[in-house]
Amino acid sequence: MTIINALNWRYATKRMNGKKIPKAKLDSILDAISLAPSSFGLQPYSILVVEDEAILSRMKAIAMMQPQITEASAVLIFAAWDKLTLERIDAYIQLVAKERNVTLDSLKQMKGYIENQLKNSDSDNLTWSAKQAYIALGVGLVAAALEEVDSTPMEGFDHTKLDELLNLRSRGLCSSVLLALGYRDDFNDYLVHLKKVRRSKDNLFLHFH
Ligand SMILES: Cc1cc2nc3c(=O)[nH]c(=O)nc-3n(C[C@H](O)[C@H](O)[C@H](O)COP(=O)(O)O)c2cc1C
Repeated sequence: MTIINALNWRYATKRMNGKKIPKAKLDSILDAISLAPSSFGLQPYSILVVEDEAILSRMKAIAMMQPQITEASAVLIFAAWDKLTLERIDAYIQLVAKERNVTLDSLKQMKGYIENQLKNSDSDNLTWSAKQAYIALGVGLVAAALEEVDSTPMEGFDHTKLDELLNLRSRGLCSSVLLALGYRDDFNDYLVHLKKVRRSKDNLFLHFH
C-alpha cells in the first residue's frame, strides 16, 4: 500500500470489532513510534501500551464512554514528561555518548542547548514535551495505516483522572493523547462509508515561489 492509499484508507475509527492485532504488527507500529523525531532527540515522553481489559474498561469510563477504548486491541497512552530535569537531560546525554561512542566532553555544547530549556517554567516544558509526543502519535497513525490496522487518535478523556488511574504522576508523566489500535466494525461504525473531508489543497497550502 502506498502512503497516500494508506492515509485515504484510514479514518478515526469510532467502533472496533475486538479482534486482536498480531504481535508482529503491533511491534512494527511501536518500532515506528520509537523512530519519531523529537526536539534534540530527547523523546520527552513515555508511551504506555495498554491491553489489560480491566484497565481499558476503567479508561473508557473516564473517556466519555467511547466504545473504541474497550473494542480496541490495544490503547497507547502518549504521556509527556511532567517536567524537564537535569537528571533527565543527563541520562539522555549519557545515552548519546554510549550509542555514538563519543566522550561526554564532546557533547557539552549540545547539553548546554538542552539545559537552556530549563529556563522555561515546568508548565511550558510540559507543553513542549506534549508537542513532541504528538509527533510520535502522528508517526503511529501512519504506521498503523500502512499495517492495515485501524486507529483512533483521542483527546476526549479526563487527563487528571487517567493520570490518577495509572499513577502517572509518580512516574513523572502526564497523559497527553491516546491512540486506540484495532480493527473497524464495518456494521456498527457509521463513519466507515462516509467521505473523508479535507480542505482543498489550494486553501491549505500557501505557495511562495
Ligand atoms: C488530537 C486528536 C484528538 C482526537 N480526539 C478524538 C476523540 O476523542 N474521539 C474520536 O472519536 N475522535 C477523535 N479524533 C479524531 C478526529 O475527529 C478525526 O481525526 C477528524 O475528524 C478527521 O477525520 P479522519 O481522521 O477520519 O480522517 C481526534 C483527532 C486528533 C488528531
